[in-house]
This record gives sequence, C-alpha cells and structure tokens, in this order.
Amino acid sequence: MKKVRKAVFPVAGMGTRFLPATKASPKEMLPIVDKPLIQFAVEEAVAAGITDMVFVTGRSKRSIEDHFDKAYELESELEARGKAELLDFVRNMIPKNINCIYIRQAEALGLGHAVLCAKPVIGDEPFAVILADDLLDGKTAVMKQMTDTYDYYRCSVLGVQDVPRADTKSYGIVDARQVADRVEQINAIVEKPKPEDAPSTLAVVGRYILTPRIFHHLENVKPGAGGEIQLTDGIASLLGEEQVLAYRYEGTRYDCGSKLGYLQATVVFGQRHPEVGAAFDAYLKSLGG
Ligand code: G1P
Repeated sequence: MKKVRKAVFPVAGMGTRFLPATKASPKEMLPIVDKPLIQFAVEEAVAAGITDMVFVTGRSKRSIEDHFDKAYELESELEARGKAELLDFVRNMIPKNINCIYIRQAEALGLGHAVLCAKPVIGDEPFAVILADDLLDGKTAVMKQMTDTYDYYRCSVLGVQDVPRADTKSYGIVDARQVADRVEQINAIVEKPKPEDAPSTLAVVGRYILTPRIFHHLENVKPGAGGEIQLTDGIASLLGEEQVLAYRYEGTRYDCGSKLGYLQATVVFGQRHPEVGAAFDAYLKSLGG
C-alpha cells in the first residue's frame, strides 16, 4: 500500500498580478506577515507526513532554493551577535528528514506541463500537488485531510469548494455526485468554464493528490485553455480509466494570487501573530472599520 510521500510545488509562474513586487522575486516568496507563501505550503505538506518536496522552478526563482537551504552567512552573523533564538529558528525551519528537490521548467507551458516535469522524481507513486498561492488555513492541515481521504479510497483526490457562479471562469469546475460526507465522485471536469457553461459551482482549489497514471494522460493532452497544457485536461482524461474524487476540505482559503485575498490573509494572520497580533488588532479597531 503506497503512501503519499512526495509533493510537487509548481513555482515557475510569472506572477504578473503582483508586479512590480514579482519582477525579480517569485510570487511564492511574498510573505504573509513574516512567512513566505511557499513555506506555508511546505509546512502543510510536512503536516501530512510528506517528506520529499519537489519544486518545479523557472528563471528568477533562485530565492526559493536559497530559502530552504543552509544560510551560512546569516547563521554566522546571528551567532556572532548572540541571537540564539533567531539562529535556532532559521536552522530548524523545516524538519531534518525533509528532502528538497528542484527541477527547472524551461518554458512556462502550463500547470499540467509543470506537473509532468516532476515525473522523473515521482516515479510510480501517488503524489500531492500544492499551489502555494492558495493559502489554506485549516485546524487540521488541508493536505493531511486529503491524504487521509486518499488512504481510505486509494484514488486521486482533488480539493474543492463552492464558488459564486460568476467565478467559475477562474477555476477547474467539476460535475460530481456525493458519495460520503465531504466526498464526491467526479463525472467530469472542465477548466475555467464561462458561468453559463459551468456544470456546477464546485471549484478545484490548489490541492491535488494524483495517482502516477496522470503522467501518461498529461503526455497526451493537447494545449487547452489559454494555449497551455492544463492539469485539468489531464485529469479529465484520467477519469476515463480511474475514479477521481472531489474532497470538500475543512478550512478557509485565501487566494493569495489576488491582491484582495493576499490582503485578507495578511490581516487575519497579522491579528493572530504571537508578536504583533494584539497591537495590530488594536490598530485595526482604532481605524473603526
Ligand atoms: C489553476 C488550475 C485551476 C484551479 C486553480 C486553483 O488555475 O488550472 O483548475 O481551479 O489553479 O487555484 P490558475 O489559478 O493557476 O489560473
């Protein structure tokens, strides 16, 4: 019985919605208060028992590699200044048993293509895909909820939530039938349908558990919406031979690929922050909003 041990983080996107902040640095390094989005994503994977983090990167993404690497200069500087607590913090950012693996996606040909780039390191195992700009805040880490679902059903599982009909054009949308609490069996999936064409309002968020059979389908799909190799189209093709489930995760999603979602996350995580939370909350109240 194979466990989900590996997660793919497609981080080669351009992040045009956050220009100029993302001109020279990746959108996944945008911080929510003091923690970059990619670190939230990795921590969620760690909470699900995943040990191998596979980053599919592109040009100007070096800071992601540096972020998870040993920072010699910073460490010796903190040591020299006697900042033991901070030193401990940067040294133990991720558990010691975690492997970080980097693959370059030379051309931005789409999310499906990015996932296909990870094939050589995933091999014949089920794996997770985490889109770091979807920040999911759950009492139980959302990826852990999904690996539990996978362990029970042993098939691909997509994280989903209901969205307003007007928003279907921003998501993969599924046509599904409920089989258990929070679990639906997918009949069809379509990438970014117009509201009038959408089969439902159940949208895929940036969390997937996929069986390795997805690679075969991604190798054969033609460019779809936006001229890109879409993961959604690969999943649609996979549905022809395997069951795929939709899982209504428990938690709150912040779409940190949008300015509004990013600001909302910043406010909520700011209010909760152990160091500045109380003062920030008092400040927000003083604004009277
Ligand atoms: C991608 C997927 C889409 C999914 C979304 C979730 O779109 O293609 O199916 O619903 O992530 O965030 P993107 O937001 O990268 O355009």
